[in-house]
Amino acid sequence: MGSSPQPRPAAPIWRSLLILAVTCLLSSASVSSADVDYSVQEHSPPGSLIGNIATSIDLANLVSPENLPQMKYSFLNTESSLRNLFVLDDKTGDLRLSRRTTLDRELVCPFSADCVLELQVAIQSTISQFFRKVFVNVDVIDINDHAPTFRENVTKITISESVQIPTSFPLPSAVDEDRGSNNSLQGYEILPADGPFRLSYSKSNSNLMLEVVSELDHEKRDSYRLKIIARDGGEPVKEGVLTVEIDVEDVNDNKPVFTETNYARTVDETVSQGSLLLTLTATDEDSGDNGKVRYHLPEQLAHVMSMFSLNATSGELRLVGDFQTADTEVYVIRVEASDQAYTTTTTVTIRVEDTINSEPKLLVSYLSPDNFSSITEYANLGVAVAHILIKDTDRGPNGIVTCRMATPQYFELQGYDVKEYKVIVAHKLDRETISVHNVTVECEDAGQPSLTASKTFQVKVTDENDNPPAFKERLIHARIEENNELGAELTTVSASDPDDPALGNGRITYSLEDVSEGEFLIDPVSGTIKVMKSLDYEHRRQVNFTVIASDNGTPRRSARVALGVSVLDLNDMTPHFAQSSFSIRVSERTLHGELIGELSASDYEQGKNGQFDISVVPGSYRVTETRRDPGSEFAFVGGGSNSHSNNNNINN
Ligand SMILES: *[C@@H]1O[C@H](CO)[C@@H](O)[C@H](O)[C@H]1NC(C)=O
Ligand SMILES: *[C@@H]1O[C@H](CO)[C@@H](O)[C@H](O)[C@H]1NC(C)=O
Ligand SMILES: *[C@@H]1O[C@H](CO)[C@@H](O)[C@H](O)[C@H]1NC(C)=O
Ligand SMILES: *[C@@H]1O[C@H](CO)[C@@H](O)[C@H](O)[C@H]1NC(C)=O
Ligand SMILES: *[C@@H]1O[C@H](CO)[C@@H](O)[C@H](O)[C@H]1NC(C)=O
Ligand SMILES: *[C@@H]1O[C@H](CO)[C@@H](O)[C@H](O)[C@H]1NC(C)=O
Repeated sequence: MGSSPQPRPAAPIWRSLLILAVTCLLSSASVSSADVDYSVQEHSPPGSLIGNIATSIDLANLVSPENLPQMKYSFLNTESSLRNLFVLDDKTGDLRLSRRTTLDRELVCPFSADCVLELQVAIQSTISQFFRKVFVNVDVIDINDHAPTFRENVTKITISESVQIPTSFPLPSAVDEDRGSNNSLQGYEILPADGPFRLSYSKSNSNLMLEVVSELDHEKRDSYRLKIIARDGGEPVKEGVLTVEIDVEDVNDNKPVFTETNYARTVDETVSQGSLLLTLTATDEDSGDNGKVRYHLPEQLAHVMSMFSLNATSGELRLVGDFQTADTEVYVIRVEASDQAYTTTTTVTIRVEDTINSEPKLLVSYLSPDNFSSITEYANLGVAVAHILIKDTDRGPNGIVTCRMATPQYFELQGYDVKEYKVIVAHKLDRETISVHNVTVECEDAGQPSLTASKTFQVKVTDENDNPPAFKERLIHARIEENNELGAELTTVSASDPDDPALGNGRITYSLEDVSEGEFLIDPVSGTIKVMKSLDYEHRRQVNFTVIASDNGTPRRSARVALGVSVLDLNDMTPHFAQSSFSIRVSERTLHGELIGELSASDYEQGKNGQFDISVVPGSYRVTETRRDPGSEFAFVGGGSNSHSNNNNINN
């Protein structure tokens, strides 16, 4: 307990390995050399703001204003038992109490007057190479949340009336879990104060004694009922009450006493589950039931409770967890021994020794609240995506560890501190090429033979809107027959965008330009274009407009394509004669087969639809004799036909 931690830069490993309880025990000896000192009252409401890291280290003066909003905050080299107590906002740097647990000073720092929790926080830019490790000390301020309490409400003492004056009898003392000058136990009061009893106690040792200061006379009074009130000095004062019932005979009672004041053991990390670590023994000088001692582990930190078990009758402390998979090197365990009346508390310190040349351990901090690392695809070279702490407690060459990047294509290792590395971006990233990188770091110690360890983790590349949508075609042709129904489907266009659709960067919305909604409509999601007006070939043979595909990223990117719609002709027009009637004069001397005149007709349609025949319908003409003279002529008079059947052959 008296040893002080080594100075910070020389021993980052050691620092990071300190378990919570040890941190508390040691912190009173160490002068704060943290970058940031905070204090927070225990039992503050869950989620309470403790401080803002950025403000506290005056980050605005360290980085450029455009860099400031790009900062990311994460815990570094911080054990989960400690990490669970706090929440660090990765975007703002706000350090808060966790909403899931309450900060109880007596639980995180048992038996210690001061409670300073040491955290490390990484501040890094997501776009530039800025990376800084910040030491944060959180001083947990005691509040008067515990009253002095006696283990029992009532205790019985039998005293002979012939007792010598003065004689002292031990009483169970009260325990106040609060520490500090005012919240801890301050003293006792006895009621009534004017009887033959006094209390004696000293603050330095917790023994409370009841002194008989004047003769007891059984004839006058055969029993006493006293109240002992224990008080702390909090605001308001809290108290605990013990009723003492006093009767005849002299029976002494003793507290259980542990054979060692504080137990400390160093055990091999390879100790198997279920192994006996040590046997606690507390002796009690009383005979019979009063002398029976039972052992137990009072409520304490979860990582202690899950690692050890204590046999209530034999005092055997056994390992139930596995030292090699736990990341704790020193455990401080509270143990209690009780007889019928009294409880004695002590601590067992178990230091787990690294005995074999164990392979180096790699602790990866992902610099994010997730259990993987993530980085924007816009990240510049040199930006850190993870931090690696090498744990190798072996001495000599066994403890000299070198690491290398086994997957050096996109990421590299950069030494940061003693046995610490940053994993930095070494090659431009592109999410559309590789969205998740498997990064493997390999480390090797200098032992004979050397032992290696490797760690693989994922770096997810987060999407940026770096790709615009694109159409395959440079020009799209579509056709539709005229006289279409309203809402007829024309065609479906499709653009692609390799960016992430989930973020909107790759989600495309279609729209039309240079055309009215009354004529053409596009479904913004499917890209299906509908014709909302009946088209007329004779009026318009081609409609040109533009289709736009935009993504939903910031900033938005878009692509355009020209769409030409050909309106197809239908045979909706009839041929018609140039005149409603023709008259042709024919001389009677006209020879067979001689041309007597021309009829003309036309059709608005194009191509086949525009072809027609003319035939003479029998009986549809008259012959008018206009002159009987030689050279007289006949006239045929015919009417224009409206027949659609223009494929009839002319019958000569
Ligand atoms: C002691 O008294 C308190 C309050 O009067 C009560 O809640 C508690 O159960 C008692 N304890 C025992 C062991 O009798
Ligand atoms: C403790 O109590 C005394 C007397 O009430 C007061 O003067 C002092 O400021 C208190 N100390 C603390 C740390 O609260
Ligand atoms: C505790 O120890 C006693 C004596 O060695 C033994 O009989 C008992 O089974 C043990 N209890 C447990 C729960 O292991
Ligand atoms: C990461 O966390 C998720 C959910 O929180 C969990 O499903 C997953 O198994 C974890 N992965 C690793 C490697 O721990
Ligand atoms: C990363 O590893 C996983 C399996 O762990 C594998 O499915 C995936 O293809 C790997 N990714 C790359 C880019 O190699
Ligand atoms: C439509 O575009 C085509 C070629 O892109 C052009 O030849 C035609 O004249 C255009 N038609 C109209 C009505 O703009």
